[in-house]
Amino acid sequence: MLDLDTKVHDESRQGEAFSPATTGTQTYTKKFYIESYGCAMNFNDSEIVASILGAEGYGPTRNAEEASLILLNTCSIREKAEQTVRKRLTEFKKIKQQTPGMLVGVLGCMAERIKGKLLEEEKLVDLVVGPDAYRSLPALIAEAGSGQKSVNVLLSREETYGDISPVRLDNNGVTSFVSIMRGCNNMCTFCVVPFTRGRERSRDAHSIVREAAELFANGYREVTLLGQNVDSYYWNNDDGSETVTFAMLLERVALINPLLRVRFSTSHPKDITDEVLFTMMKYDNICNYIHLPVQSGSSRILQLMNRTYTREWYIKKVNRIRELIPDCGLSTDIITGFCSETEEDHQETLSLMEFARYDLAYMYFYSERPGTLAERRYQDDVPEDVKKRRLAEVVELYRGHSQASMEKEVGKIFNVLVEGTSKRSDEQLFGRNDQNKVIVFPRENFKKGDYVMVKVESCTSGTLIGKAMQ
Ligand code: SAH
Ligand code: SF4
Ligand code: F3S
Repeated sequence: MLDLDTKVHDESRQGEAFSPATTGTQTYTKKFYIESYGCAMNFNDSEIVASILGAEGYGPTRNAEEASLILLNTCSIREKAEQTVRKRLTEFKKIKQQTPGMLVGVLGCMAERIKGKLLEEEKLVDLVVGPDAYRSLPALIAEAGSGQKSVNVLLSREETYGDISPVRLDNNGVTSFVSIMRGCNNMCTFCVVPFTRGRERSRDAHSIVREAAELFANGYREVTLLGQNVDSYYWNNDDGSETVTFAMLLERVALINPLLRVRFSTSHPKDITDEVLFTMMKYDNICNYIHLPVQSGSSRILQLMNRTYTREWYIKKVNRIRELIPDCGLSTDIITGFCSETEEDHQETLSLMEFARYDLAYMYFYSERPGTLAERRYQDDVPEDVKKRRLAEVVELYRGHSQASMEKEVGKIFNVLVEGTSKRSDEQLFGRNDQNKVIVFPRENFKKGDYVMVKVESCTSGTLIGKAMQ
């Protein structure tokens, strides 16, 4: 999902601890440490958790050893993601043994998937809280503090945390995520998300626009609207007099200010409409970039995955995007070695990639997840070495495409939103263009949050290198 780097068969972001940079003037009596795994939505949830804990006097810290509460906000999407969390939990054991009264909690999708069993399996876990139960954290912490093991993994049909202002933790002060919906109603057979996140529900459109407007007022210049399937966003008010589709929401957020860039993720190929594409065309500040996961290039595999589109349908969708928005950046997710995948199916994935020539791709080999439809219905029958060899072929082809996609930008001029100082040099700033490509250029007198016209002079495989136009 959303990420700076190309990931091959790993989580997009792993185990980042949040910086306590932006907690305002509030004074805290206790400290919590949180590590987040998985998708951007999970990271955004950690910001909601930080807000709920802030009201209880807990401030964030980057140092686990000074915290009285350690939280891991976990991901279950692939087996490896869960293994990483288990390893982290054993590492925290030592700190917990040395710190009387310290509580350790597991939040997020793994909490939801394994539920109370986590308390038995991992003896050092005191709290297990699912994605829809964060409002009960204060009560659960109190319960755990008095020596009881606390669990709340109830999923909700209504919870959107719409009224909670997330505490921006992992923060550059320029770009931010805004969750617009929760859960997922698609039953892709490989996927654990419908089980860990529950039914799809859309957040109150007014609270979304309010949050984005507040971010803009606080100096932010880019919001990314988040959902597992943003194009099926659909909200109506209580008396049914107001209905908001995703295209309408996109327009409302774009209208906040032309200087606020708007991005969104993820689009399911079956749901992205012409209306959304027209809205993108109408507003310059809606970025020309679409994350459109294909998963496989074989219609037979797509059907087994229950993606509800065919290879031909996907190709038509990409053609439509390119017809309406010729310079649109396009990224994808691909799974190799799904149940019964043959060499012919795999070749179809490669040929679809040749057609789409993705600017960015997240590629994984299939990891069977307990409880999913694929686990119940199909055999995970592609040997691991074959899955990995196919993945390597997919990655190699992608690398060529992404290199070409970078090289074609040399000589062009882009409007870049500056996000901060380049990791390599204090003298360089970095930002992104509309199509989400990272551009590095000399600092001169520019600063974070500025829009700068930059001419690209060269590139590496992941970065464009340029100079501000005078
Ligand atoms: N809602 C998004 C995807 C969320 S999960 C969508 O529909 O596109 C992010 C990606 O993880 C998926 O697109 C898929 O490529 C990958 N993924 C999900 N389950 C997986 C599994 N069991 N094994 C390997 N990759 C998986
Ligand atoms: Fe999973 Fe499919 Fe929902 Fe994406 S759309 S979260 S892949 S079930
Ligand atoms: Fe992982 Fe849950 Fe997101 S399974 S990808 S953290 S919705």
